[in-house]
Amino acid sequence: MSFAVNIVSFIGILSVPTLAITQMNTCSNTTGIYPNVTYSVNSYVCDRSPCLCVPGCTSSLSVDFQAPKYLEKMRPKVHATCLNVQLDYPLNQDDVCVGFTNTQCPIVEKEKVNYKYNLNIGTIFPEVTVTLRFSFIDEDTAPNTEVLCFEFDIIIKKTECPA
Ligand SMILES: *[C@@H]1O[C@H](CO)[C@@H](O)[C@H](O)[C@H]1NC(C)=O
Ligand SMILES: *[C@@H]1O[C@H](CO)[C@@H](O)[C@H](O)[C@H]1NC(C)=O
Repeated sequence: MSFAVNIVSFIGILSVPTLAITQMNTCSNTTGIYPNVTYSVNSYVCDRSPCLCVPGCTSSLSVDFQAPKYLEKMRPKVHATCLNVQLDYPLNQDDVCVGFTNTQCPIVEKEKVNYKYNLNIGTIFPEVTVTLRFSFIDEDTAPNTEVLCFEFDIIIKKTECPA
């Protein structure tokens, strides 16, 4: 019995460094690459879209990608679709580079980059499901084309922040 418990805790410890990846959806009609994304709310990591989003709690997006080419300037874009209404969600960030945690712009081809963004939606949001298309838009070498893109659904639910 205690042997089994030890095995379980050993496996638990071993699995900690493994980065959990959230299975997102690929974007249609894009030239952008599909990155590795982890979406979490506190310690709760979403396995796959749709993911829970709690108004007033911070959701964090961690995006890992390998640069497809040399890039100097990109802007993040989030396109939201809900109940047939489409709008660009304001990220209050116009330069992707400020979200890089392990490097700086410009980035070179094949460089591994980590980008983090904390999403806070206000408590005024109703309980709906929203489809988000998240992309980085190239602003210099090929203006207005997507460098990377992924899509996912968030289920907005007024509940306690997951611990
Ligand atoms: C696909 O993307 C191109 C370039 O962004 C755009 O002009 C075109 O309208 C898009 N097509 C569809 C079906 O969304
Ligand atoms: C994405 O995840 C896969 C599987 O864990 C890994 O092999 C790959 O190196 C990751 N890519 C990046 C850019 O982190």
